[in-house]
Amino acid sequence: MACLIKPLLLLPLSFWVYSTFLHDLWHTQNSSLTASIIGGCHGGYGGSSARGGWWELASENSGVSAMHMFIFPNTDKAIMFDGIVFGKSQIQLPPATRILGRKIKTNAYLWAHAVEFDIDSAAIRPLKILTDTWASAGGLSANGTFVLSGGWSDGRRTLRYLSGCSTCNWEEFTGALAGKRWYSTQQILPDGSFIVVGGRQMFNYEYVPNNGVSSRKNYQLPFLHETTDPEENNLYPFVFLSTDGNLFIFTNNRSILLNPTINKIIREFPILPGGSRNYPSSAMSALLPIKLHDPNPNVIKAEVLICGGAKHEAANLASKGIFVDALKDCGRIDITNPSATWQKSMMPSPRVMGDMLLLPTGDVLMINGAKKGIAGWGFADDPNTTPVLYKPENRKTQQFIELTATTIPRMSHSTSTVLPDGKILVAGSNPNYNYNFTNVKYPTELRVEKFYPPYLDPLLVSNRPFIILNFRGKTVNYGQNFVIEFKLKKLEVSLVHLKVTMYAPPFTTHGFSMGQRLLEMAIEKLINVGPEIFQVSVMAPPTATIAPPSYYLVFVVHSGVPSPGVWVQIR
Ligand SMILES: *[C@@H]1O[C@H](CO)[C@@H](O)[C@H](O)[C@H]1NC(C)=O
Ligand SMILES: *[C@@H]1O[C@H](CO)[C@@H](O)[C@H](O)[C@H]1NC(C)=O
Ligand SMILES: *[C@@H]1O[C@H](CO)[C@@H](O)[C@H](O)[C@H]1NC(C)=O
Ligand SMILES: *[C@@H]1O[C@H](CO)[C@@H](O)[C@H](O)[C@H]1NC(C)=O
Repeated sequence: MACLIKPLLLLPLSFWVYSTFLHDLWHTQNSSLTASIIGGCHGGYGGSSARGGWWELASENSGVSAMHMFIFPNTDKAIMFDGIVFGKSQIQLPPATRILGRKIKTNAYLWAHAVEFDIDSAAIRPLKILTDTWASAGGLSANGTFVLSGGWSDGRRTLRYLSGCSTCNWEEFTGALAGKRWYSTQQILPDGSFIVVGGRQMFNYEYVPNNGVSSRKNYQLPFLHETTDPEENNLYPFVFLSTDGNLFIFTNNRSILLNPTINKIIREFPILPGGSRNYPSSAMSALLPIKLHDPNPNVIKAEVLICGGAKHEAANLASKGIFVDALKDCGRIDITNPSATWQKSMMPSPRVMGDMLLLPTGDVLMINGAKKGIAGWGFADDPNTTPVLYKPENRKTQQFIELTATTIPRMSHSTSTVLPDGKILVAGSNPNYNYNFTNVKYPTELRVEKFYPPYLDPLLVSNRPFIILNFRGKTVNYGQNFVIEFKLKKLEVSLVHLKVTMYAPPFTTHGFSMGQRLLEMAIEKLINVGPEIFQVSVMAPPTATIAPPSYYLVFVVHSGVPSPGVWVQIR
């Protein structure tokens, strides 16, 4: 908390100077300007500067290794888990739950490998999973039930369901999938069903209908075979639902547009040169914010960003103990433009197996991972502890800002997620088979941190809107107008400084945040309805292709500072 207060103490001294620097931070992205002029809270945890964001230790012990993570709507809970094959965790299943499960054959059914983590209190509740979830895929369904597919061993063809309530637990259906989905990717579709793409030695995909019953049919996709290196480099494909209803699928260095209605590839994009981008050469990737306020309504542009990864040969070298520099470059492409090419840019530092998160403001955060090697058990070194902000709207030379570094390495099997209050929950890191706290360079990490992005600087609080209309349990229909009332310490607010965004929170594992989507809404009207109280009227997404049915966080963003988010169900 010292970190929160310290910058305020500077206020009487140098408020204007300081705001000028803040202004610079937002507008020049000159990272040497963001050096520690303010000092931040060196006495506090981690050390930090408000201008580059700061870190807080949220928990000493998450109980399990957070290899996979997601948040539940309307619950203030995150779910973290690894796989049951990894032996003793730090939290046991309650005896009653154990007996409910199958026979206790091994430690796997004594030690919990999944927890529900309370975002505010850091309390953990062990969850029962009996089939192996190692390297599974997941997504939030249209009705808010979480759907998890695949994993290892007896989990490979398993579908699991979890609802968000204080006594809810996983329900598992083995054999529900047609393929063995280990290291595959899951994406929600406009009709609320899911597509599950690829997996180890699975050169095909399948659909999980929203009634939960599997169609048990595999669709062949030779493209997944063609992009396999001897060290794979094409697992956990980057899959995004484009604004035209097609699926963008990227693996290794190639990408296609697949029409899921006719199950045909309708376009192949140019190769993204420079190296491999998928597991174990895990790059980061996100669908950039979709703008629903663009003047041209015929094509709603969809752009994909891919950053980092590793050279094709990096995995082979890592197996010999040689860890080469990760990739430093990014490629960005408009997937709605048939003649588009990759636009390259350079990150300030190399990064493999980082996470790429869309912030409520429309900026992109790159966090976690390493500067050398690849993903997997002990195949990387030189943790990249410095998060980077990417501003998609800025000129190429001014897109990256380095933020305040953490002190905790987040190597293979680390995760992060955007919280409703705009902070980032960071957990996991276990490049060791099993939980291992001794005689290893990067011990299993059970500490959980919260990263406060620069927009949470206390000096910016007068720009922070607070939504006062209670949307809890509320739904909006496609194309419908809805009104958001918010408080903001301003006499007047200009539309120029205002954005409303809707965020579909992802399922994150192995450096990919599946299902992540941010919409920048079309604003119809903004009115002042009382002292420091405003109403903004917003057009809901026009179709389920633009925003598949599910729960989204709504944020009002003023001058780059987001309100706490409020959950809304789109249907
Ligand atoms: C960034 O700021 C430093 C120090 O003021 C200056 O020397 C450098 O040229 C600047 N770089 C850019 C790219 O503006
Ligand atoms: C919610 O969705 C899940 C996954 O699609 C489905 O299995 C379940 O039956 C649904 N629940 C209700 C109450 O409709
Ligand atoms: C794309 O990846 C393949 C498979 O690793 C590699 O052989 C090829 O050289 C790469 N192409 C380019 C242009 O980088
Ligand atoms: C931890 O890793 C070290 C080095 O590989 C190994 O010697 C040790 O047995 C491991 N400990 C556990 C508990 O697995």
